[in-house]
Amino acid sequence: MKNLLLVGTGSIGRRHISNFQDLFDNIDIVDISQDRIDEAKSQFKIRNTFLDYNLALNNEKYDAVAITAPPHVHLPIAKLAAEKNANLFIEKPLGMNINGWDEVIKICENNNLISYVAFCHRHIPYTRRVKEILDSEKYGKILHAVVRWGSYLPDWHPWEDYRSFYMAKKEQGGGALLDESHGIDLVRYLIGEPKNIFAKVRNLSDLELTSDDTAFLLMELNNGPLAHINFDLTSRNPRVSIEIVCSEGTILWDRVEHRIELFDAKNNEWKNEEYTKDDFLSMYPIQAKHFYDSIYNNKDQEVDISDGLKTQKIIDAAFKSSSDKLLVEI
Ligand SMILES: NC(=O)c1ccc[n+]([C@@H]2O[C@H](COP(=O)([O-])OP(=O)(O)OC[C@H]3O[C@@H](n4cnc5c(N)ncnc54)[C@H](O)[C@@H]3O)[C@@H](O)[C@H]2O)c1
Repeated sequence: MKNLLLVGTGSIGRRHISNFQDLFDNIDIVDISQDRIDEAKSQFKIRNTFLDYNLALNNEKYDAVAITAPPHVHLPIAKLAAEKNANLFIEKPLGMNINGWDEVIKICENNNLISYVAFCHRHIPYTRRVKEILDSEKYGKILHAVVRWGSYLPDWHPWEDYRSFYMAKKEQGGGALLDESHGIDLVRYLIGEPKNIFAKVRNLSDLELTSDDTAFLLMELNNGPLAHINFDLTSRNPRVSIEIVCSEGTILWDRVEHRIELFDAKNNEWKNEEYTKDDFLSMYPIQAKHFYDSIYNNKDQEVDISDGLKTQKIIDAAFKSSSDKLLVEI
């Protein structure tokens, strides 16, 4: 029997249950809110439920633990789960900062465990397509990228007041920079690793947040290009896009329109590749299967804790650059 424990049955937790239930024999859940547990139980076939992850991990044996609670509790749950010999699926961002994760990596190595950090945007078919085009060097050398990642926080969860959502709370790991770090992961995945960063992380709106609502990052990448990233929780109309300017053309990845726009300097023309919302949402079942296959079918695995830690290091450096008003070497 393949048993999975999922900790945190909020919005993304329930989405993951819907995909994991096709792969694992039994799913147990934990949430500190009985209402959230009841909601999940009414939707899915759940074996056991717990209000405290310690009770679950100390009393049952799990093949895998999915950590889908807010970032401030990712580290203690991951550490205990790894000590209990469970493979780890950890929602992004990895945690609050880089501290403590080396120990979890060691436990995973000693116990021969798979770890996966859910930077799911890599699994969108049209992200893979951009990667393929870049790797083919069809448009020449990559010169720079502009990442735009913004939407209006109060629109995210219409069923709750945004002020009670963890995203509004700095101490629980909310905020534009931590949450929208998909954009950092995608720059690393598509273009390369940064060597230094300058950033401004701010709270600019009238929203009632202790977390940041705006972050501007300027990174110089190891292989030469520059990347400019603009995250926010304030754009009244969502914008999620990456423009990659190359010596012989431009690639625009648009995750709101589900489209790739390609400009080829040779013909002086734009060509669009259209995708759908279903293509976008397919990243979740693809990701669940990827995690499952890396545990049970020896599939080469992407974005383990060591990889997620590289993105976390950039997040930490961005906060430091902003508070110290300095360029920070990565
Ligand atoms: N990859 C993606 O596409 C994606 C999308 C949304 C959220 N996320 C990530 O998933 C995580 C959760 O986000 P969400 O939007 O689902 O938040 P949410 O507030 O909807 O759900 C979080 C749940 O965790 C529960 N919780 C809090 N502390 C807990 C604890 N100690 N033990 C057990 N449960 C606890 C809360 O009661 C809540 O039900 C965050 O890290 C977020 O960045 C990822």
